[in-house]
Amino acid sequence: MRINLTRFWSTEYLTAKIFLVSGAVWFAVGTSLGLFSAIHLVAPDFFANIAFIEFGRVRPAHTNTVLFGFVTGMLIGAGVYILPKVLNTRLFSEPMGVVAAVTFNLAVLVGDISLLAGHSQGREYAEYIFPVDVMIVVAFLLLTANAVMTVRQRREPLLYVSSWYVVGAMLWTTVMYPFGNVLWRGRPGAMSGITDAIFLWFYGHNIFGLLVTPLAVAIGYYMVPRIARAPLYSQLLSILGFWTLLMFYTHIGGHHLIQAPIPTWLKTVSIIDSFAMMLPVAIVLINWWYTARGRFQNFLSNPVGKFFLIGSIWYAIVCVQGPLQSLAWVQRVTHFNNWVIGHSHIAVLGFTGFIAIAGMYYVLPYITGRKIYSTKLINIQYWLVLLGLLGFFVSLTAAGLIQGHVWLHGGTVYRSVPMLKPYMTTRLFEGILIIIGSYIGLYNVIMTFLKGERISE
Ligand code: HEM
Ligand code: HEM
Repeated sequence: MRINLTRFWSTEYLTAKIFLVSGAVWFAVGTSLGLFSAIHLVAPDFFANIAFIEFGRVRPAHTNTVLFGFVTGMLIGAGVYILPKVLNTRLFSEPMGVVAAVTFNLAVLVGDISLLAGHSQGREYAEYIFPVDVMIVVAFLLLTANAVMTVRQRREPLLYVSSWYVVGAMLWTTVMYPFGNVLWRGRPGAMSGITDAIFLWFYGHNIFGLLVTPLAVAIGYYMVPRIARAPLYSQLLSILGFWTLLMFYTHIGGHHLIQAPIPTWLKTVSIIDSFAMMLPVAIVLINWWYTARGRFQNFLSNPVGKFFLIGSIWYAIVCVQGPLQSLAWVQRVTHFNNWVIGHSHIAVLGFTGFIAIAGMYYVLPYITGRKIYSTKLINIQYWLVLLGLLGFFVSLTAAGLIQGHVWLHGGTVYRSVPMLKPYMTTRLFEGILIIIGSYIGLYNVIMTFLKGERISE
């Protein structure tokens, strides 16, 4: 069989292509790594003495791979396509984009290998070692420069809201990442004591709020009017949502430390702003759903639209749950247990992941000149990932409530652990559904490049 790769290597859209294909690869790799952790929580001795797949190593490899490799990568892939489109120009420099894409993916690869080999900085979402951090910063510097120069050479005077979010995400991450990873302290990559915890969670929540959230919102704003075939409900709301996101999200990292001895004013600010976050979220959702009003059939009749619509619903659920779980009296039951793991999965996979997948399938035909290889496979992937994730939400939330109540009533951890067995076992099988979905997606993406039906110009 002769495989024609010419189209893949043609320079136009190469940055987007690399990010989208690598995102699909990391989706499969990242979920597979999650499987090792899930097995460990059902049968802790299953992988005993095989150091590189022990829980403490695989867990951060899983979280960083899905967060950076899969979600961030796929969102950037769609973002670098969308940005020039809404500005009626080309990407400023395709080679610069390609260097950024390769550096970013190498960083995830080297980061994962070093985590599995036991080299970790031990701070959540900042586990990658110093050289990897530097590579990520370099990639984001290049992406920011490319995005800003693309804006400068635009032919469209109106800056549509998607461009605000794409440039914002890249710029904010370039500034925030070195701070959060304490880059000036090289090897430990950390300060000491409570100051370090405050810094870490300033970064830790912003990596979700100022990197993947704005990119997902940018893609949503691009796709909604196109799928609905209707103009955006309100330009004014879109800009209001952008500035309120920046205003409130930057202060909420303290809600991870409500049970820790940080200053009370910091806890109070973080709780108040956690609730204030409902404003930018509501603005975005009202704007999307009002644009789609009366035309939801356009979304439900196509699998890409469904991925997007469900992503927006998860966003609503996450951002009602989030403020509630920032309250100290709620955290007394929900903190440090599987409740939060449930929140993480519906947030990172349900909201940003679903929209990343929608964005990828939406953009792929435009950058490859080919239709998606199989719509049926997208539908199968959609159901597998959705059912797996719904299952995750139910089992992890239930497991968290059990843990929280046992601890609240003075029960010991070792008493609560056996109670979790049915939930952890169910989660394992639900995870397998998501994993199968991710491999089906990867196959579909590769086949689109190789055999997707050509779209006549
Ligand atoms: C792309 C899809 C996925 C994303 C975006 C994702 C994301 C995450 C995140 C952000 C965490 C950290 C949670 C926290 O500390 O609060 C996490 C932990 C975890 N994930 Fe995933 N995950 C995905 C798929 C999976 C799958 C398919 C499985 C199982 C087969 C899985 C199993 C786990 C396990 C076992 C943990 C550790 C939980 C713990 O520490 O108790 N994940 N994941
Ligand atoms: C209105 C918005 C949100 C609020 C107020 C909120 C609130 C919270 C709170 C209070 C926690 C800590 C819970 C605890 O440790 O007891 C948390 C954890 C988390 N949130 Fe959110 N959340 C919001 C939206 C999001 C979004 C949009 C994402 C992802 C795109 C996200 C991802 C996560 C993750 C991954 C964690 C786990 C962190 C860890 O590993 O401990 N959240 N959230």
